[in-house]
Amino acid sequence: MNEKMLRETALAMVAPGKGLLAADESTATIAKRFEKIGVENIEPNRQAYRDMLFTTPGFEQYTSGVILFEETLFQKSLAGQAFPELLASKGVIPGIKVDKGAKPLAAGGPEETVTEGLDGLRERLEKYYAAGARFAKWRAVLTIGDGTPSDNAIRTNAHALARYAALCQEANIVPIVEPEVLMDADNTIQVCEQVTDRVLAEVFDELYRQNVVLEGIVLKPNMVVSGAKCPTQAGVQEVAERTLKVLTRRVPGAVPGIAFLSGGQSDELATAHLDAMNKIGNLPWKLTFSYGRALQAAALKAWGGKNVDAGKLAHLHRAKMNGLAALGQWDKKLEKAA
Ligand code: 13P
Repeated sequence: MNEKMLRETALAMVAPGKGLLAADESTATIAKRFEKIGVENIEPNRQAYRDMLFTTPGFEQYTSGVILFEETLFQKSLAGQAFPELLASKGVIPGIKVDKGAKPLAAGGPEETVTEGLDGLRERLEKYYAAGARFAKWRAVLTIGDGTPSDNAIRTNAHALARYAALCQEANIVPIVEPEVLMDADNTIQVCEQVTDRVLAEVFDELYRQNVVLEGIVLKPNMVVSGAKCPTQAGVQEVAERTLKVLTRRVPGAVPGIAFLSGGQSDELATAHLDAMNKIGNLPWKLTFSYGRALQAAALKAWGGKNVDAGKLAHLHRAKMNGLAALGQWDKKLEKAA
């Protein structure tokens, strides 16, 4: 393991004013996105869509890295260049989603899952590194519900996250550690705060037990928000304060950066929350974005399968807004101006 390299990669992933584009939708997930815009889910369309995103002029100013699905890592751009090579030529670090998805947890609570993909991971990581990947992602999913998440789900997922992270570091690949507490239930923000706190405590315990080098990871958590179905929705400042309260308690200062998932928040709200946290500032780690939907929704709609330039414009705008939020320099007026 090359600790210096891991540390440098992790720092580059959270460089000031930059964040990650999560474009690692599995074939099944991208099918749902394409269905909404009436685009058929076939390989040439997935290639054309990702080509549009990765050839957006100037997006590299705000984008430190892109998380790819395995198909894309080994795919070529429309101009015939390997996607990881194209990204690296712009100074954008290629990354790879390595988990095999959240599967029902045996003897877990209702709807609880454990993320699979550890078997054979060491060999796969070697292949991904050779293809240019310098960081990876593994997403664990925790559901808030009646009696959930259970201790079983929290511990099992934390254990798997740490096993994945240790394997990545052995291969000189920076692990993005993503324990996602879902935001779509009817819980209050207080419940989200308690659950996120419990989950992060367990995740960092496991990372410690399994000798993961904290200087060489990036944490990708949910924000502390009101569940989407909760009748009372906390405002931007409360979300920022409660999220920082949990993170400062649970995330050691050795971690170079935290890159949030958007988790179904609207584009603008995801930006506003990140911006509010960075405006509070004075934090031990960098705080940035690793958004999927909140970076791509507008671009996907504008593209619609054919309008490449419109798609690029929409992508660049969202990347820029989030780049500003990563510095605490975003302003709502900038959205209207655009
Ligand atoms: P969202 O920002 O759409 O939640 O996706 C981020 C991600 O990569 C989830 O694993």
